[in-house]
Amino acid sequence: MDASATVFDNIVQSRRSMRIYDAEAYFDSEAVARSIRRAMLAPNSSNMQMWEFYRVTDPQKIKDIAVFCMNQNAAKTARELLIIAVPKNKYRARAQANYAFHHARYCNKPIEELDKRSARKLKYFSRLMPMYYFQDWLGLWGAVRKLIVSIASIWRPVVWQVSKQDLRVVCHKSAALAAQTFMLSMLAEGYATCPMEGFDSKRLRKYLKLPRSTEFNMIISCGPGTTQGIYHERFRVPENEVVFMV
Ligand SMILES: Cc1cc2nc3c(=O)[nH]c(=O)nc-3n(C[C@H](O)[C@H](O)[C@H](O)COP(=O)(O)O)c2cc1C
Repeated sequence: MDASATVFDNIVQSRRSMRIYDAEAYFDSEAVARSIRRAMLAPNSSNMQMWEFYRVTDPQKIKDIAVFCMNQNAAKTARELLIIAVPKNKYRARAQANYAFHHARYCNKPIEELDKRSARKLKYFSRLMPMYYFQDWLGLWGAVRKLIVSIASIWRPVVWQVSKQDLRVVCHKSAALAAQTFMLSMLAEGYATCPMEGFDSKRLRKYLKLPRSTEFNMIISCGPGTTQGIYHERFRVPENEVVFMV
């Protein structure tokens, strides 16, 4: 193993979910800012970056949100909380941002003057992505999209994940990759974290005054770790139960 693999291995091996943070030790909140910037570099579906990061640093607000987290120690004792949200209503803005980025790469030339590949890229963000992410309340558009891909699948391989619920999974997968990047980065900075999904998302949404379309991926508590904050030794099922050669 080379030196960087050893460093990375140490980070991964030492990450544990921390349930009790040290209230006294120094905590550099700039480490959180740096880790969020790294998390924003996580791979994500179509580069739509359907994520938002809400930092909670105020002790009273941490207390308030810990109540929504069922008063879990991991939240109550945290020095900072990071809430990773999926703003489902921002897909048009994100598609537009990607469009503008690529259009600038192509010197803002009209689409008719571009080669096939570049024109396809622009259409991907101006037409396909808005169509793919568009949702109605009942999920009828998702059902229509599913019907279209079912018909197309008779002739060729298709992406089946087009329904309203599928799109939620698409967004949350990417947000979770950002979450993991954040946690590993925090560890590299010398701090512990705990990912949490055990919280009242409706109360949290109201508290943060976010629209109903916003979902939460997870809340990550962070701070200086303690030995009593790791409740037991690590357990994983054996490799031969989860790793398969194809
Ligand atoms: C999506 C997700 C949600 C989780 N929710 C909670 C939670 O609400 N409270 C908690 O104490 N731990 C939570 N955990 C932490 C897991 O319990 C923990 O990762 C698992 O037991 C393995 O332990 P380790 O992280 O120390 O390796 C969550 C982890 C993930 C990935």
